[in-house]
Amino acid sequence: MDKKIKEILSYSVMAPSGDNSQPWRFVLSNTTLRIYNLPDKDNPYLNFMQGGSLIAHGALLKNIEIASPKLGLVTKIKLFPEPGDLNLVAEINFENSLDIQIDPLFEFIAKRATNRRPYEQKQLSGKENILFEEAGAFDDVSVHFITDTENKNLAGTAGSSAEIIILENKLLHEYLFKDVMWSEKQERKEKHGLYIKTMEFNPVQRLLFKLASNKILMRLAVKIHLPYFIAKQDAVLYSSSSVMGLLTLKKISPENFVKLGMKLQEIWLKTTSLGLAFQPVAAILFLGFKLQNSLTDQILSQKHKKIALKSYQDIFSAFNLSSSEVPLLMFRVGYAKNPSARSSRKEPVIE
Ligand SMILES: Cc1cc2nc3c(=O)[nH]c(=O)nc-3n(C[C@H](O)[C@H](O)[C@H](O)COP(=O)(O)O)c2cc1C
Repeated sequence: MDKKIKEILSYSVMAPSGDNSQPWRFVLSNTTLRIYNLPDKDNPYLNFMQGGSLIAHGALLKNIEIASPKLGLVTKIKLFPEPGDLNLVAEINFENSLDIQIDPLFEFIAKRATNRRPYEQKQLSGKENILFEEAGAFDDVSVHFITDTENKNLAGTAGSSAEIIILENKLLHEYLFKDVMWSEKQERKEKHGLYIKTMEFNPVQRLLFKLASNKILMRLAVKIHLPYFIAKQDAVLYSSSSVMGLLTLKKISPENFVKLGMKLQEIWLKTTSLGLAFQPVAAILFLGFKLQNSLTDQILSQKHKKIALKSYQDIFSAFNLSSSEVPLLMFRVGYAKNPSARSSRKEPVIE
């Protein structure tokens, strides 16, 4: 059984996580696996309540659910089994089973990736339309899609405004660049962080990004409005997709963050199975929620607060959301070439 669980975990860690932070730890006792969150891995300036990391845990758990039948095991997952310990995200019991159905999404766990390339300007067609069957409410998580140009432009511009804030704000800027892996050698050694080759920059963009990593040069770049220029390019990139999607919650709670992550991974794997590209566009929604609910930690200037709040409202309008919904993760889907590089993963260590 241990060998099987180890193999399942090697699939599970292929899950996405913000900046490839892989915020998990595994403790196995007999046939019970406990999965812990590593709280230091969550971006403290962008996120709140460990939301980014808990969404990644949801994706990790979805992979476990999908990979287990392939190894002849069934799982019982209990979220937050000890109410006093919010770092203990899940307890999983594994059991052998002879009568088991293999999940057709299994083969796409290893193929899924974030694709930051430009996507083609065309609507989904034929069999790819089944993606829209994902729309609707599941538990406390809802999925929304938009395809019309006007609303995609509105949502894309709103998503890209995070670039202005992140590049202009000292703390967010520092946090972004500490996680960039600048070469293949560094990335293959560290096996975490944002690998520069996956950013799909052209040579000019790559140079600008390198310049932006320097604090002094960045101060000059702010003066000539470089962050606005970058955001404008990203707005075009985000909206030039076939579909933009949004995951929302009815209520914020640790458990619901995890459930949203499970739904995200399911949709991402289905998208991969259809041969489509996928990229999350997440930062602005966490900032917007914090500001809207006065959870902000004073790190944003008045100008940036205004930008974030307007963008947050624009996402409500673009997706026609009711005020009872909390938008948390936006994404774009479309037709594109495969990513030019992949991010590495650390081998799962079982304690
Ligand atoms: C909660 C969450 C938020 C993310 N936000 C973004 C984002 O705003 N922009 C982006 O390009 N990728 C985003 N990602 C994708 C991660 O950067 C990516 O999963 C990670 O670098 C590993 O790469 P891979 O998905 O190709 O395996 C996000 C992923 C998660 C789970």
